[in-house]
Amino acid sequence: MIGSRILGTGSYTPSNIVYNKDIENIVDTSDSWIRERTGIAERRISTGEDTSELAIKSALKALEDSNVDGKEIDLILVATVSPDSLIPSVACNVQKEIGAVNAMAFDINAACSGFIFALDIAKGYIETGRATKALIIGAEVLSKIVNWEDRNTCVLFGDGAGAVVIGKDSEEYISYINCKSVGSKGESLTCDILPMENICTKEVINNNKIQMNGKDIYKFAVKVMEEEFNRIIEKSNIKKDDIDFILPHQANIRMIESVSKKIDIPLSRFIINLDKKGNTSSASIPIALDEANKNGQIKQGSNIVIIGFGGGLTYGSALLKWNK
Ligand code: ACO
Repeated sequence: MIGSRILGTGSYTPSNIVYNKDIENIVDTSDSWIRERTGIAERRISTGEDTSELAIKSALKALEDSNVDGKEIDLILVATVSPDSLIPSVACNVQKEIGAVNAMAFDINAACSGFIFALDIAKGYIETGRATKALIIGAEVLSKIVNWEDRNTCVLFGDGAGAVVIGKDSEEYISYINCKSVGSKGESLTCDILPMENICTKEVINNNKIQMNGKDIYKFAVKVMEEEFNRIIEKSNIKKDDIDFILPHQANIRMIESVSKKIDIPLSRFIINLDKKGNTSSASIPIALDEANKNGQIKQGSNIVIIGFGGGLTYGSALLKWNK
């Protein structure tokens, strides 16, 4: 039987820290509002590095952590909603810089669920023998597509990239994945691209930024996170007490607290970094995973549930057993 396993992780976030106090100078908000309503205290905002640059830096760290050479990679997937350009893809830019001459490389867009969707594709390629080593990256420079005049959204997001290398194994260490989309709810979170007529009115420019119905997303997220957790317990026959960590998409601490109560698992078993990094969309789960790997929070044999949700709308979950 062919299974798959995470061989190593890496992440990179820009050095520029933007505190809530700094955002008080941009829109009508306050440090206390942002902390109380979201749990976010600071986020990293790029000062010139574009998405590919962040992706490449996280990829190089993941290759080093897994002791894998770029030439061994035969699949590169980058999950992003904020690529540098429509063509070439961020994945092709990464391929060029890491010397992954043997790889197929492409981007996917499932918004904040993108990393789990990419993991699902890579698992499928590896377990059917179509790839042997895959590099999966979530990378975003959301500050490019945030409306810095909209206090409902600009306080939430940050920039960064996280990467993992996956290889085949005789056992299944990525044992369960579920990914779903709910296109009928797409209006809840939108970001247009330039229209056919290039009319640069203020309205058109703002439509090219993230617009969000925060309450709709909030309700959707709490519901699907609870459902996905319960689905994993049911489908993979793992006992609740055997799950060491839950790593949710890092959007809002209140959502995580609410899920923690609903599934009756203490907050101490959730991996959380949103206070320092904000919501980095498809990069949020791999950045937090890399931090937990490097700081020793997750250990050999840890069972980790990852759960994401985002624009599309989309959602997904996976069960990982740590062995690296
Ligand atoms: N500072 C101060 N006041 C604010 C701010 C702000 N930054 N933003 C909104 N407010 C005001 C509102 O205008 C409103 O004022 P009003 O009562 O006078 O009308 C009041 O605060 C309450 O606003 P709500 O929208 O009800 O606040 P809520 O408690 O719902 O929190 C939030 C808003 C943080 C956006 C929350 O709904 C949320 O986190 N939703 C999910 C968002 C999300 O996760 N999006 C991304 C998911 S997908 C992806 O990651 C790409």
